[in-house]
Amino acid sequence: MKKFYIETFGCQMNVHDSEKVISTLVNKGYSQVELPDDADLVLYNTCSIRDKAEAKVFQRLNEFKKRSKDKVVGVIGCVAQQEGEKIFDRAPHVGLVAGSASYNQLPQMLVQIEAGARRVTGLSLDTEDTFEVPFTKRDNPHKAFLTIIEGCDKSCAYCVVPMTRGPERSRASAGILEEARQLAANGYTEITLLGQNVNSYRDPSDAGLDFAMLLRRIGEVQGLKRIRFTTSHPRDFVRDIVHAIDENPVLCNHIHLPVQSGSTEILDRMRRLYTRDEYLRQIDWMKAAKRDIAITSDIIVGFPGETEADFEKTLGLLDTVQYDAVFSFKYSQRPNTPALQYTEHMSEEEKSRRLTMVQERQRQIQLPRNINYIGSVEEVLVEGYNRATQQWIGKTSQFKTLNFSHPVVPAPAEGHTLEGSYLDVRVLRAGPNSLAGEAVLS
Ligand code: 5AD
Ligand code: SF4
Repeated sequence: MKKFYIETFGCQMNVHDSEKVISTLVNKGYSQVELPDDADLVLYNTCSIRDKAEAKVFQRLNEFKKRSKDKVVGVIGCVAQQEGEKIFDRAPHVGLVAGSASYNQLPQMLVQIEAGARRVTGLSLDTEDTFEVPFTKRDNPHKAFLTIIEGCDKSCAYCVVPMTRGPERSRASAGILEEARQLAANGYTEITLLGQNVNSYRDPSDAGLDFAMLLRRIGEVQGLKRIRFTTSHPRDFVRDIVHAIDENPVLCNHIHLPVQSGSTEILDRMRRLYTRDEYLRQIDWMKAAKRDIAITSDIIVGFPGETEADFEKTLGLLDTVQYDAVFSFKYSQRPNTPALQYTEHMSEEEKSRRLTMVQERQRQIQLPRNINYIGSVEEVLVEGYNRATQQWIGKTSQFKTLNFSHPVVPAPAEGHTLEGSYLDVRVLRAGPNSLAGEAVLS
């Protein structure tokens, strides 16, 4: 039997793509191994969102070069799509290059490889299809990703994704709902709906659901306890999404709505298609909700032309919104992106200074916010156990990490774990990035 190894870089979309690729390979009679040395086929599912992510891939290919004789090495995912056949020049031991929009051709590519082809590529982006595979086993037995939309039709000036993942394709709602039911029947209780812009979802079938309607329908699937979704784009964010969350506690009270910058001028240069005020109106909808919705965001500092005044607007936005968490990044120049036209580049030192300031300001916001939870009881899904701190790790519906001790089950024991269960935990302590407490026995 042929053996394969796969390593995944990048976002949740990539993690789930790897699960689907694994399914495809297993269905073709391959078996997965834990070490590249034991494999006949070694796959790297790659990310190119920032130059560092891409550099890591080539570093890995280099490390593995000498040991890869008699093996087929494949580069798939975003770097594959972006660099295409150039990868063969940079890493001549690579035999397969395929972008995510071509994964439905993987079975044919494997046939070519088995027939001895030395170089196989799948780089077409013009597919109308989504990557549908028979029911895919997930890495985690309780939580599952579920793709609802692939690709991206926006053209944010800094971003490689429209190019690496191709045009936007929504899946028909019947298939999505069927997969959600199957997941529930297989014991999964939490689903994260995935897409580059989940809220751009438009059902291509006659049912014609929009994203908020789809959320409501998935929220009715028996057996599911939590539904999350990521990522949302402010351009297509409508108030009905907040209403849907208010109506059904199964829909988690957490929205990740990346703003990228607090300056309308920079948002315009970034081609984000909304202004600061429009974004803040959406934040007001969330704050006016009946449920306490956690709000998180992504921020890029040092976009070309970002003045000190623009940057101050981003810091001010953090104060205004009071996010529960922010992921911040230094702008990184990417190949084939519209932002390459801009010539005003900022020094790395200045970008680093701004990044530190964003992170410091946000830390100051998060700590008092988290302290507010002390004394409250939160339901967590238990995700694991930390041996170093001797605490269980839980996640709240708001996606906050809540570490806790349990008076009856202090640690996982033979045949007995709390992982996968939903428990009430009283919050006793708070840090900027997590909460800690003790399980409440019922
Ligand atoms: N440079 C820096 N950060 C980027 N992101 C996307 N492209 C770039 C880039 N070229 C960030 C955005 C996005 C997150 C996933 O990565 O903030 O929301
Ligand atoms: Fe990286 Fe973006 Fe591709 Fe995800 S979609 S793997 S973040 S480049």
